[in-house]
Amino acid sequence: MKQDLYSRNLTSKRCKALKGDARIPGDKSISHRSIMLGALAVGETIVSGLLEGEDVLHTAMAMRAMGAKITHGDDGLWRIYGVGVGGLREPDQVLEMGNSGTSTRLLMGLVGGHNITATFTGDASLVKRPMKRIVTPLEMMGATFLSRSGDRLPLTVKGAENALPIEYRLPVASAQVKSAIMLAGLNAAGRTTVIEDHPTRDHTENMLRHFGVEVEVEKLEGDAHAIHLLGHQELQGCAVDVPSDPSSAAFAVVAALINEGSEISLSRVGVNETRIGLYTTLQEMGADIEFKHKRIEAGEPVADIIVKGTGSLRGIDVPESRVPSMIDEFPILAVAAACAQGTTKMTGLKELRVKESDRLLMVANGLKVCGVNFEMGEESLIIHGTGKSPEGGACVETALDHRIAMSFLILGTVTQEPVSIDDAAPIKTSFPNFIELMNDLGTEIGTPDDSDELRLA
Ligand code: S3P
Repeated sequence: MKQDLYSRNLTSKRCKALKGDARIPGDKSISHRSIMLGALAVGETIVSGLLEGEDVLHTAMAMRAMGAKITHGDDGLWRIYGVGVGGLREPDQVLEMGNSGTSTRLLMGLVGGHNITATFTGDASLVKRPMKRIVTPLEMMGATFLSRSGDRLPLTVKGAENALPIEYRLPVASAQVKSAIMLAGLNAAGRTTVIEDHPTRDHTENMLRHFGVEVEVEKLEGDAHAIHLLGHQELQGCAVDVPSDPSSAAFAVVAALINEGSEISLSRVGVNETRIGLYTTLQEMGADIEFKHKRIEAGEPVADIIVKGTGSLRGIDVPESRVPSMIDEFPILAVAAACAQGTTKMTGLKELRVKESDRLLMVANGLKVCGVNFEMGEESLIIHGTGKSPEGGACVETALDHRIAMSFLILGTVTQEPVSIDDAAPIKTSFPNFIELMNDLGTEIGTPDDSDELRLA
């Protein structure tokens, strides 16, 4: 029987230059939203390129439990037959969200705006994550919540009988909170407004428009803007072609950059301005990254990305204002910084403490056992690269965090000794063919060789 590589620990060994073309799986944020909006629409929605990772499959299961018909054909297409805004039915069972914070928070918005009750739970990582940020605005809209302690999962949401439109200024830069309010606002009588001081990913806005809903964006002082949405608009089923995920592409991009002589090409990657902070940062570090054939497809900008590894990254200060546009990319930036010449300073990282793991701590732990010189603060990380390959020869703890797992496997492609991770299972939440795709490009990721001596993290 074929061994499931993702069910166990894995090792990444120093490899040669990466070469080839790859198609990175679909964008996770857009995939979640295509299922949710399709399930609320009238008529048929056909999704191609959907990310078939565990997180998105949890969203699909929940939407089925709330009345949408969702099929996955032999042609690879997902077809969704929605119930119409206001038409969600109460799920019979507890909604199991696995590792997925995006599913949980956005679906709480949907339930909060409907006159139904649902209970959410998740894995050991998700039950630790803060939900107060969602509870506060949804309570203002008329939903009520019952939770065990500190608004963590398991949590029951009793949706509003008649959802109230609100005006809400986000206290944290969070696309999940923004989206939850907008999804609840779809079923509110009147205009819901969300004010963001710093732009976060705007896929909910773009996709609502794609489904025929009017969303108005008003520019305010500085970086701030208000998003206005009138409730009770009908969503019309449509075709969605999901672009490749720039956050997943980042692993292949950094792998190519740190392995001198590499040249890879990634087709049709999403390059929405609110998502590509890492790419700008890498270019400032001296990376050779080219965006070709930039175009808009299904309301989202996409491009083909060509990366050449010149082996000459240098450390920089990452502007704090850029954090929301690269919020998921700090673990892989840390890997690039560990291989760069000089110091890379990252600040404003408070939100990393409440991701799938305490990501700041888990990155620091991994860097430490791999022999990288760094300083970690409450909200900052300063990495001192030497321009030479870090030591490696360690096993990194991943704490149910897919991005920690993938980042340190990429570090292992250049370290003097192999790098292992203790658990590859979380990778399936967002990048189900990571090992196969990376190894096709030239990495050497596989099960640990018994002869490797590994220091345990
Ligand atoms: C996401 C928003 C971000 C991001 C997450 C996906 C989304 O979370 O970290 O991976 O799809 O809206 P926050 O909104 O909590 O920053």
